[in-house]
Amino acid sequence: MKAAYYDINGGPDVLDYGDLPDPTATDGHVLVRVQAISLEGGDVLGRRNNPPRHPPHVGGYAAAGVIESVGSGVTNLAVGQRVACFNWQGSHAELFAVPVPFVFPVPDALDIKVAAVGLIAFGTAHDALFEFGRLEPGETVLVQGAAGGVGLAAVQLANRAGATVIATASSAQRIGRLQSFGATHGIDYRQENIGVRTRELTDGVGVDLVVDLAGGNALRSLLQALRYRGRLIAVGGASGEGGGTFEFSDIAPESLAVFGMLFGKELHTARVHEMIAGIFDDMATGRISMPVDRTFPLAEAAAAHRHAEEGHPFGRILLVP
Ligand SMILES: NC(=O)c1ccc[n+]([C@@H]2O[C@H](COP(=O)([O-])OP(=O)(O)OC[C@H]3O[C@@H](n4cnc5c(N)ncnc54)[C@H](OP(=O)(O)O)[C@@H]3O)[C@@H](O)[C@H]2O)c1
Repeated sequence: MKAAYYDINGGPDVLDYGDLPDPTATDGHVLVRVQAISLEGGDVLGRRNNPPRHPPHVGGYAAAGVIESVGSGVTNLAVGQRVACFNWQGSHAELFAVPVPFVFPVPDALDIKVAAVGLIAFGTAHDALFEFGRLEPGETVLVQGAAGGVGLAAVQLANRAGATVIATASSAQRIGRLQSFGATHGIDYRQENIGVRTRELTDGVGVDLVVDLAGGNALRSLLQALRYRGRLIAVGGASGEGGGTFEFSDIAPESLAVFGMLFGKELHTARVHEMIAGIFDDMATGRISMPVDRTFPLAEAAAAHRHAEEGHPFGRILLVP
Protein backbone atom coordinates (compact mmCIF):
# COMPACT_ATOMS: atom_id res chain seq x y z
CA MET A 1 0.00 0.00 0.00
CA LYS A 2 0.96 3.66 -0.32
CA ALA A 3 1.40 5.43 3.00
CA ALA A 4 2.85 8.57 4.57
CA TYR A 5 5.31 7.53 7.26
CA TYR A 6 8.31 8.66 9.29
CA ASP A 7 11.34 7.05 10.95
CA ILE A 8 12.11 9.85 13.38
CA ASN A 9 9.92 12.48 14.98
CA GLY A 10 10.32 16.12 13.96
CA GLY A 11 9.02 18.79 11.59
CA PRO A 12 6.77 18.12 8.58
CA ASP A 13 9.78 17.18 6.42
CA VAL A 14 10.32 13.91 8.34
CA LEU A 15 7.28 12.60 6.44
CA ASP A 16 8.00 10.30 3.51
CA TYR A 17 5.52 8.84 1.05
CA GLY A 18 5.92 5.43 -0.53
CA ASP A 19 5.17 1.70 -0.45
CA LEU A 20 4.83 -0.28 2.77
CA PRO A 21 3.53 -3.84 3.33
CA ASP A 22 -0.27 -4.09 3.50
CA PRO A 23 -1.70 -4.47 7.03
CA THR A 24 -4.11 -7.38 7.52
CA ALA A 25 -7.38 -7.81 9.38
CA THR A 26 -6.38 -9.92 12.38
CA ASP A 27 -8.83 -11.34 14.97
CA GLY A 28 -11.41 -8.77 15.96
CA HIS A 29 -10.20 -6.23 13.40
CA VAL A 30 -11.36 -4.96 10.04
CA LEU A 31 -9.25 -3.67 7.18
CA VAL A 32 -10.56 -0.41 5.72
CA ARG A 33 -9.83 0.85 2.19
CA VAL A 34 -9.33 4.50 3.10
CA GLN A 35 -11.16 7.18 1.10
CA ALA A 36 -10.65 10.22 3.37
CA ILE A 37 -8.17 10.94 6.17
CA SER A 38 -8.79 13.63 8.75
CA LEU A 39 -5.57 15.41 9.73
CA GLU A 40 -6.07 15.76 13.50
CA GLY A 41 -4.33 18.19 15.85
CA GLY A 42 -2.93 15.18 17.71
CA ASP A 43 -1.38 13.81 14.49
CA VAL A 44 0.76 16.93 14.23
CA LEU A 45 1.80 16.89 17.91
CA GLY A 46 2.58 13.15 17.72
CA ARG A 47 4.77 13.55 14.65
CA ARG A 48 6.64 16.43 16.24
CA ASN A 49 7.09 15.07 19.77
CA ASN A 50 6.89 11.26 19.92
CA PRO A 51 9.85 9.15 18.70
CA PRO A 52 8.37 6.17 16.79
CA ARG A 53 8.87 2.90 18.65
CA HIS A 54 8.67 0.72 15.51
CA PRO A 55 9.70 2.72 12.42
CA PRO A 56 8.62 3.17 9.72
CA HIS A 57 5.71 4.71 11.60
CA VAL A 58 2.42 5.40 9.84
CA GLY A 59 0.85 8.19 11.86
CA GLY A 60 -2.72 9.36 12.03
CA TYR A 61 -5.78 8.55 14.12
CA ALA A 62 -8.87 9.06 11.97
CA ALA A 63 -10.13 8.07 8.54
CA ALA A 64 -13.19 6.82 6.71
CA GLY A 65 -13.70 4.42 3.84
CA VAL A 66 -15.03 0.99 2.91
CA ILE A 67 -14.39 -2.31 4.69
CA GLU A 68 -12.11 -4.43 2.49
CA SER A 69 -11.86 -7.53 4.72
CA VAL A 70 -12.82 -8.67 8.20
CA GLY A 71 -10.81 -10.74 10.68
CA SER A 72 -12.04 -13.88 12.40
CA GLY A 73 -14.75 -13.39 15.00
CA VAL A 74 -16.11 -10.26 13.32
CA THR A 75 -19.84 -10.71 12.84
CA ASN A 76 -21.35 -7.24 13.18
CA LEU A 77 -19.50 -5.57 10.27
CA ALA A 78 -19.35 -6.64 6.62
CA VAL A 79 -17.13 -6.23 3.57
CA GLY A 80 -18.32 -3.26 1.51
CA GLN A 81 -19.74 -1.35 4.48
CA ARG A 82 -18.96 2.40 4.71
CA VAL A 83 -17.33 3.27 8.03
CA ALA A 84 -15.45 5.97 9.92
CA CYS A 85 -12.75 4.75 12.25
CA PHE A 86 -10.12 5.55 14.83
CA ASN A 87 -6.91 3.84 15.84
CA TRP A 88 -3.91 5.00 17.83
CA GLN A 89 -1.84 5.07 14.59
CA GLY A 90 -2.03 4.11 10.93
CA SER A 91 -4.64 6.33 9.24
CA HIS A 92 -2.19 8.04 6.83
CA ALA A 93 -2.39 5.14 4.37
CA GLU A 94 -4.47 3.46 1.68
CA LEU A 95 -5.32 0.62 4.11
CA PHE A 96 -6.13 1.05 7.81
CA ALA A 97 -6.46 -1.91 10.22
CA VAL A 98 -8.88 -1.08 13.03
CA PRO A 99 -10.27 -3.00 16.05
CA VAL A 100 -14.04 -3.47 15.74
CA PRO A 101 -14.94 -1.28 18.77
CA PHE A 102 -13.31 1.70 17.01
CA VAL A 103 -15.40 1.30 13.83
CA PHE A 104 -18.49 3.50 13.30
CA PRO A 105 -20.99 2.81 10.47
CA VAL A 106 -21.58 5.79 8.19
CA PRO A 107 -25.22 6.35 7.19
CA ASP A 108 -26.03 6.39 3.45
CA ALA A 109 -26.97 10.07 3.61
CA LEU A 110 -23.55 11.14 4.95
CA ASP A 111 -20.60 11.95 2.67
CA ILE A 112 -17.60 9.81 3.61
CA LYS A 113 -15.35 12.89 3.83
CA VAL A 114 -17.75 14.57 6.24
CA ALA A 115 -17.76 11.44 8.40
CA ALA A 116 -13.95 11.38 8.44
CA VAL A 117 -13.63 14.94 9.74
CA GLY A 118 -16.58 14.67 12.11
CA LEU A 119 -15.77 11.57 14.15
CA ILE A 120 -13.04 12.77 16.53
CA ALA A 121 -13.80 16.50 16.45
CA PHE A 122 -17.47 16.23 17.39
CA GLY A 123 -17.01 13.17 19.60
CA THR A 124 -14.29 14.85 21.66
CA ALA A 125 -16.18 18.12 21.88
CA HIS A 126 -19.37 16.34 22.94
CA ASP A 127 -17.60 14.45 25.72
CA ALA A 128 -15.73 17.58 26.88
CA LEU A 129 -18.92 19.65 27.09
CA PHE A 130 -21.44 17.14 28.38
CA GLU A 131 -19.88 13.91 29.72
CA PHE A 132 -17.03 15.59 31.61
CA GLY A 133 -18.09 19.26 31.56
CA ARG A 134 -21.76 18.70 32.57
CA LEU A 135 -22.77 21.78 30.57
CA GLU A 136 -26.36 22.93 31.19
CA PRO A 137 -28.60 25.22 29.11
CA GLY A 138 -28.14 28.84 30.13
CA GLU A 139 -24.53 28.35 31.22
CA THR A 140 -21.54 30.11 29.66
CA VAL A 141 -18.60 28.20 28.17
CA LEU A 142 -15.19 29.48 27.07
CA VAL A 143 -13.62 27.47 24.23
CA GLN A 144 -9.86 28.01 24.10
CA GLY A 145 -8.56 27.17 20.59
CA ALA A 146 -11.99 27.44 18.98
CA ALA A 147 -11.07 27.67 15.29
CA GLY A 148 -9.61 24.15 15.05
CA GLY A 149 -11.55 20.93 14.55
CA VAL A 150 -12.52 20.17 18.16
CA GLY A 151 -13.05 23.86 18.91
CA LEU A 152 -15.48 24.44 16.04
CA ALA A 153 -17.37 21.34 17.08
CA ALA A 154 -17.54 22.56 20.68
CA VAL A 155 -18.79 26.00 19.63
CA GLN A 156 -21.64 24.49 17.62
CA LEU A 157 -22.67 21.86 20.17
CA ALA A 158 -22.59 24.32 23.07
CA ASN A 159 -24.59 26.89 21.14
CA ARG A 160 -27.16 24.25 20.18
CA ALA A 161 -27.44 23.19 23.84
CA GLY A 162 -28.50 26.71 24.83
CA ALA A 163 -25.17 27.89 26.26
CA THR A 164 -23.50 31.26 25.69
CA VAL A 165 -20.16 30.66 23.93
CA ILE A 166 -16.98 32.71 24.24
CA ALA A 167 -14.45 31.57 21.63
CA THR A 168 -10.72 32.33 21.46
CA ALA A 169 -8.70 32.49 18.22
CA SER A 170 -5.64 34.21 16.81
CA SER A 171 -7.31 37.01 14.79
CA ALA A 172 -10.42 39.15 14.54
CA GLN A 173 -11.17 37.61 11.17
CA ARG A 174 -11.22 34.11 12.67
CA ILE A 175 -13.43 35.31 15.53
CA GLY A 176 -15.86 36.72 12.98
CA ARG A 177 -16.10 33.33 11.30
CA LEU A 178 -16.59 31.64 14.69
CA GLN A 179 -19.57 33.88 15.40
CA SER A 180 -21.28 32.46 12.30
CA PHE A 181 -20.90 29.01 13.93
CA GLY A 182 -22.57 30.08 17.18
CA ALA A 183 -19.98 31.96 19.26
CA THR A 184 -21.54 34.92 21.08
CA HIS A 185 -18.24 36.62 21.91
CA GLY A 186 -14.65 36.22 20.76
CA ILE A 187 -11.28 36.87 22.35
CA ASP A 188 -8.11 37.31 20.32
CA TYR A 189 -5.74 35.30 22.49
CA ARG A 190 -2.73 37.03 20.96
CA GLN A 191 -3.91 40.52 21.88
CA GLU A 192 -5.99 40.18 25.05
CA ASN A 193 -5.70 38.66 28.54
CA ILE A 194 -8.28 35.90 28.47
CA GLY A 195 -9.11 36.00 32.19
CA VAL A 196 -9.56 39.78 32.27
CA ARG A 197 -11.55 39.93 29.02
CA THR A 198 -13.82 37.05 30.09
CA ARG A 199 -14.66 38.87 33.35
CA GLU A 200 -15.60 41.96 31.30
CA LEU A 201 -17.80 39.92 28.99
CA THR A 202 -19.61 38.20 31.91
CA ASP A 203 -20.23 41.30 34.09
CA GLY A 204 -17.49 40.18 36.47
CA VAL A 205 -19.01 36.74 37.11
CA GLY A 206 -16.81 34.43 35.03
CA VAL A 207 -17.79 31.39 32.95
CA ASP A 208 -19.21 28.08 34.16
CA LEU A 209 -16.99 25.91 31.97
CA VAL A 210 -13.70 26.18 30.08
CA VAL A 211 -12.80 23.69 27.34
CA ASP A 212 -9.02 24.03 26.90
CA LEU A 213 -7.66 22.75 23.59
CA ALA A 214 -4.38 24.69 23.71
CA GLY A 215 -2.78 23.92 27.09
CA GLY A 216 0.44 25.73 27.98
CA ASN A 217 1.05 29.15 29.43
CA ALA A 218 -2.53 30.44 29.36
CA LEU A 219 -3.79 27.89 31.89
CA ARG A 220 -3.77 30.29 34.87
CA SER A 221 -5.58 32.92 32.84
CA LEU A 222 -8.21 30.32 31.93
CA LEU A 223 -8.69 29.44 35.60
CA GLN A 224 -9.14 33.16 36.32
CA ALA A 225 -11.94 33.19 33.75
CA LEU A 226 -14.02 30.71 35.81
CA ARG A 227 -16.79 31.64 38.22
CA TYR A 228 -17.01 30.19 41.73
CA ARG A 229 -17.28 26.35 41.41
CA GLY A 230 -16.45 26.54 37.70
CA ARG A 231 -15.04 23.56 35.76
CA LEU A 232 -12.10 23.36 33.35
CA ILE A 233 -11.67 20.39 31.03
CA ALA A 234 -8.05 19.90 29.90
CA VAL A 235 -8.41 18.39 26.42
CA GLY A 236 -5.45 19.40 24.30
CA GLY A 237 -2.04 21.00 23.97
CA ALA A 238 -2.31 22.69 20.57
CA SER A 239 -0.18 25.65 21.71
CA GLY A 240 2.83 23.34 21.70
CA GLU A 241 3.96 25.01 24.92
CA GLY A 242 3.69 21.91 27.09
CA GLY A 243 1.31 21.12 29.89
CA GLY A 244 0.77 24.35 31.81
CA THR A 245 0.87 24.40 35.58
CA PHE A 246 -1.31 25.58 38.45
CA GLU A 247 -1.13 25.52 42.22
CA PHE A 248 -3.45 24.98 45.16
CA SER A 249 -3.99 28.72 45.39
CA ASP A 250 -5.19 28.88 41.76
CA ILE A 251 -8.14 26.57 42.38
CA ALA A 252 -8.97 26.31 46.10
CA PRO A 253 -10.27 29.83 46.88
CA GLU A 254 -12.94 29.62 44.16
CA SER A 255 -13.63 25.87 44.59
CA LEU A 256 -12.67 25.18 40.97
CA ALA A 257 -12.58 21.72 39.38
CA VAL A 258 -10.04 20.68 36.74
CA PHE A 259 -10.67 17.49 34.76
CA GLY A 260 -8.56 15.79 32.12
CA MET A 261 -9.99 13.57 29.42
CA LEU A 262 -8.80 11.21 26.69
CA PHE A 263 -11.55 10.46 24.20
CA GLY A 264 -9.70 7.46 22.78
CA LYS A 265 -10.29 5.63 26.05
CA GLU A 266 -14.07 6.04 25.72
CA LEU A 267 -14.48 5.39 21.99
CA HIS A 268 -15.21 1.68 22.33
CA THR A 269 -18.19 2.19 24.65
CA ALA A 270 -21.84 1.78 23.69
CA ARG A 271 -22.40 5.29 25.06
CA VAL A 272 -19.98 6.81 22.53
CA HIS A 273 -21.30 4.68 19.65
CA GLU A 274 -24.80 6.00 20.32
CA MET A 275 -23.51 9.57 20.61
CA ILE A 276 -21.57 9.31 17.29
CA ALA A 277 -24.64 7.90 15.51
CA GLY A 278 -26.52 11.04 16.59
CA ILE A 279 -23.68 13.27 15.43
CA PHE A 280 -23.56 11.57 12.03
CA ASP A 281 -27.34 12.07 11.64
CA ASP A 282 -26.94 15.75 12.53
CA MET A 283 -24.06 16.13 10.05
CA ALA A 284 -26.07 14.39 7.32
CA THR A 285 -28.92 16.87 7.74
CA GLY A 286 -26.57 19.86 8.02
CA ARG A 287 -27.55 20.77 11.60
CA ILE A 288 -23.84 20.75 12.44
CA SER A 289 -20.87 20.91 10.10
CA MET A 290 -17.10 20.80 10.01
CA PRO A 291 -15.46 23.18 7.52
CA VAL A 292 -12.68 21.62 5.47
CA ASP A 293 -9.97 24.24 5.12
CA ARG A 294 -7.94 22.41 2.44
CA THR A 295 -7.68 18.99 0.82
CA PHE A 296 -4.30 17.44 -0.06
CA PRO A 297 -3.39 14.19 -1.81
CA LEU A 298 -1.85 11.75 0.71
CA ALA A 299 1.34 11.94 -1.36
CA GLU A 300 1.61 15.57 -0.17
CA ALA A 301 1.22 14.70 3.53
CA ALA A 302 4.29 16.78 4.45
CA ALA A 303 2.75 19.89 2.86
CA ALA A 304 -0.55 19.17 4.62
CA HIS A 305 1.20 18.88 8.00
CA ARG A 306 3.08 22.11 7.30
CA HIS A 307 -0.19 23.89 6.55
CA ALA A 308 -1.67 22.49 9.78
CA GLU A 309 1.26 23.85 11.78
CA GLU A 310 1.83 27.18 10.09
CA GLY A 311 -1.23 28.08 8.02
CA HIS A 312 -3.86 28.57 10.77
CA PRO A 313 -6.44 26.37 9.03
CA PHE A 314 -10.07 27.02 9.95
CA GLY A 315 -11.56 23.60 10.74
CA ARG A 316 -10.04 20.43 9.36
CA ILE A 317 -7.52 19.46 6.69
CA LEU A 318 -8.37 16.39 4.57
CA LEU A 319 -5.92 13.95 3.01
CA VAL A 320 -7.09 11.78 0.13
CA PRO A 321 -5.17 8.59 -0.84
N1 LIG B 1 -7.94 14.65 25.03
C1 LIG B 1 -8.53 14.18 23.94
O1 LIG B 1 -9.25 13.19 24.01
C2 LIG B 1 -8.30 14.86 22.63
C3 LIG B 1 -9.06 14.51 21.51
C4 LIG B 1 -8.88 15.23 20.31
C5 LIG B 1 -7.92 16.24 20.26
N2 LIG B 1 -7.17 16.49 21.37
C6 LIG B 1 -6.17 17.57 21.37
O2 LIG B 1 -6.90 18.78 21.38
C7 LIG B 1 -6.15 19.79 20.70
C8 LIG B 1 -7.02 20.40 19.63
O3 LIG B 1 -7.26 19.42 18.64
P1 LIG B 1 -7.76 19.86 17.20
O4 LIG B 1 -7.78 18.63 16.40
O5 LIG B 1 -8.95 20.72 17.29
O6 LIG B 1 -6.50 20.75 16.74
P2 LIG B 1 -6.41 21.80 15.59
O7 LIG B 1 -7.50 21.55 14.60
O8 LIG B 1 -5.01 21.79 15.16
O9 LIG B 1 -6.74 23.19 16.29
C9 LIG B 1 -5.95 23.70 17.30
C10 LIG B 1 -6.36 25.14 17.57
O10 LIG B 1 -5.59 25.60 18.68
C11 LIG B 1 -5.42 26.96 18.54
N3 LIG B 1 -4.21 27.41 19.24
C12 LIG B 1 -2.92 27.15 18.94
N4 LIG B 1 -2.11 27.74 19.82
C13 LIG B 1 -2.90 28.40 20.70
C14 LIG B 1 -2.67 29.20 21.83
N5 LIG B 1 -1.42 29.48 22.26
N6 LIG B 1 -3.73 29.72 22.50
C15 LIG B 1 -4.99 29.48 22.08
N7 LIG B 1 -5.29 28.71 21.01
C16 LIG B 1 -4.25 28.20 20.33
C17 LIG B 1 -5.32 27.24 17.05
O11 LIG B 1 -5.95 28.47 16.83
P3 LIG B 1 -5.36 29.62 15.85
O12 LIG B 1 -5.08 28.94 14.52
O13 LIG B 1 -6.45 30.63 15.80
O14 LIG B 1 -4.08 30.09 16.48
C18 LIG B 1 -6.10 26.08 16.42
O15 LIG B 1 -7.30 26.51 15.87
C19 LIG B 1 -4.90 19.11 20.17
O16 LIG B 1 -3.84 19.35 21.06
C20 LIG B 1 -5.27 17.63 20.17
O17 LIG B 1 -4.14 16.81 20.32
C21 LIG B 1 -7.34 15.84 22.54
